[in-house]
Amino acid sequence: MRKISIIGSGNVGGLTAARLCSLGIDEIVLIDAIKDLAYAKSLDLDDARFVFNGNYRIIGTDDMNQIANSEILIITAGIPRRPGMKREELIQKNAYIIREISRKIRQISPESIVIVVTNPLDAMTYLTIKETGLPPRHIIGMGLSLDRARLANLIAKRLNTDINGIEPCVIGNHGQGMLPLSRHTKIKGEPIDRHLTQQEIKELFQKTIGRGAEIVSLLGSGSAYFAPSAAIFELTKAIVEDEKKILPVSVYLDGEFSLTDICIGLPCCIGKDGIERVIDLGLNDEEFNRFLESVKLVKKQLSITKQLLTQNN
Ligand code: NAI
Ligand code: 2OP
Repeated sequence: MRKISIIGSGNVGGLTAARLCSLGIDEIVLIDAIKDLAYAKSLDLDDARFVFNGNYRIIGTDDMNQIANSEILIITAGIPRRPGMKREELIQKNAYIIREISRKIRQISPESIVIVVTNPLDAMTYLTIKETGLPPRHIIGMGLSLDRARLANLIAKRLNTDINGIEPCVIGNHGQGMLPLSRHTKIKGEPIDRHLTQQEIKELFQKTIGRGAEIVSLLGSGSAYFAPSAAIFELTKAIVEDEKKILPVSVYLDGEFSLTDICIGLPCCIGKDGIERVIDLGLNDEEFNRFLESVKLVKKQLSITKQLLTQNN
């Protein structure tokens, strides 16, 4: 029996569950600290079974024991940003939530592959690895594949061209240190600078970096969930169907590119065993130095997270 559990049934978790109904999964478990919320969404999705022609089973509960034997766990529990807030400011609340959930995962479902979505993404992915004690390559942070999708959309719109011809490349942290790379971003196989000026490229990159905040500010409460849940679906499908797909994700580095004990976004090969390989893009010196700036930002987040959790063990 194929089972996926989603921990956190708010905007992102609920919509992710709806998308997963088309993936041929036998059982989807929706967990939330607010029991009635998870249960209500499970009933709602149950009612769609006839329309989708699906014999999937949906459970909605606040009982973490229900995650046992899940092939994949998707963590979307935690608070989202409010207008004007940086993702980093969520550490104060979300670190405790992730620690509590991770300790349960360690006890109840240590064989699962885990997709972390809660922000700040790179720090929460790192914390999940440390607190679950699971193999680091079984824990995948979803953030940059969303940023990459945003970049592709903005380029396609700017050039009024087919989105399928865009190959966007973004590395670094899911946050202000995100690094869209022009040398690796292609349009119909050609470098982006054959189609756009340096100034135009810069503007598109800035818009990509600010896209999450732009949506937060317009929504007034909460953050984006349509594209995020689509990106979670893409990652989940790559695992379930062992696609060996190359996607940028937050990955634990243990010596790669001379970096140790950090989670940061790089393109990786994703399959049934989670992160199966980190791809070496062959960054030049200038790109690598900018990547190190992003590393610095994540280290700062990790130090705040560690300090906070040590104070309140
Ligand atoms: P939301 O507020 O709609 O849902 C979060 C849910 O988590 C709530 O229903 C809440 O009751 C639940 N929750 C809190 N503590 C819990 C616990 N201990 N166990 C189980 N459930 C718990 O928020 P939304 O929009 O779904 O976002 C969730 C998180 O995902 C936020 O941190 C947000 O910043 C992040 N996010 C990350 C993205 C990425 O690309 N990495 C994209 C979009 C959102
Ligand atoms: C985003 O980029 C909230 O991190 C989320 O929309």
